[in-house]
Amino acid sequence: MADSAVIAAPATDMIDPFGRHVTYLRVSVTDRCDFRCVYCMSEHMTFLPKRDLLSLEELDRVCSAFVTRGVRKLRITGGEPLVRKNILWLFRALSRHLDAGTLDELTLTTNGSQLAKYAQELKACGVERINLSLDTLRPDRFKAITRWGDFGGVMGGLEAAEKAGLKVKLNSVALKGVNEDELEELVRFAHGRGHDITFIETMPLGDIDGDRTDQYLPLSIVRARLMDRLTLDDIPYRTGGPARYVEARETGGRIGFITPMTHNFCESCNRVRLTCTGTLYMCLGQEDAADLRAPLRASGDDARLHDAITEAISRKPKGHDFIIDRRTKRPAVQRHMSVTGG
Ligand code: 5AD
Ligand code: SF4
Repeated sequence: MADSAVIAAPATDMIDPFGRHVTYLRVSVTDRCDFRCVYCMSEHMTFLPKRDLLSLEELDRVCSAFVTRGVRKLRITGGEPLVRKNILWLFRALSRHLDAGTLDELTLTTNGSQLAKYAQELKACGVERINLSLDTLRPDRFKAITRWGDFGGVMGGLEAAEKAGLKVKLNSVALKGVNEDELEELVRFAHGRGHDITFIETMPLGDIDGDRTDQYLPLSIVRARLMDRLTLDDIPYRTGGPARYVEARETGGRIGFITPMTHNFCESCNRVRLTCTGTLYMCLGQEDAADLRAPLRASGDDARLHDAITEAISRKPKGHDFIIDRRTKRPAVQRHMSVTGG
């Protein structure tokens, strides 16, 4: 008989205390970004020291552990995931789960700055769909929103993605007084190129330089305004995320609305989020988290890691309660979206 009596607990599916199956893992592979979007970051961010990051090999190990626990969809996010050195190695490694049929989807959320370089290779790794963040079509406005971004570069990235045969969904944050006058234009742009578009409300995540109550534009207003110009039909289409979709009759394209502030979508939440340092957040809108880095590094086999995952899922909260408080003007959650992953 083997001398070790330690037998790894069978890797079972993850079901939280509210009966929700966790089948979707979002992984932030870096907190860094080559943009400084005004609603996301302050101009002078302090980033994590490199030594705190999980290596690409460790990220592969954690992601793979989650796949054995029933995760069917992996989204790589950041920060900007494509600025992480050698990130294609991780995509290549994770694509083996697609080949094995244990993973349905490997995808990414990107600002597009590096897409011209990577689109082809991503497609070759089995990535079928990507989310591209795009809040405006006007170069000067793009500069004002992203501070450091280059509109032409992102358009080049979009074209490369289209050419590579990636399905693209545009994500636009609706910003009061900033891009609210061009949301219809964004819809027509997306649909004209055969892409879906999803609008997002600003969420109070992390300190930024400005005042979030100034940026917040409820999507109920966006939707009402679009309805003056387009005929929108509710459709049951879902992508496994929190967006609710409509179809515009005039364009035949889909528009999604993600409304964390005005509508609580927690009851159907199927996801957890891993940061680049190996911290698992069971809810985007709560501080509670579990450290997976220590159990990961404690031993070469995954038994402790699986125990830590099981324990974390047993603490997944029922939901968040975001509020942009006009008096305190404090974010509901101190960490930035670029830490937890969008
Ligand atoms: N509120 C809403 N959306 C945000 N994003 C980044 N920070 C915030 C925030 N505080 C968006 C990005 C990107 C997606 C990942 O999340 O624009 O589209
Ligand atoms: Fe970078 Fe995305 Fe944050 Fe903009 S929203 S600064 S692109 S991580």
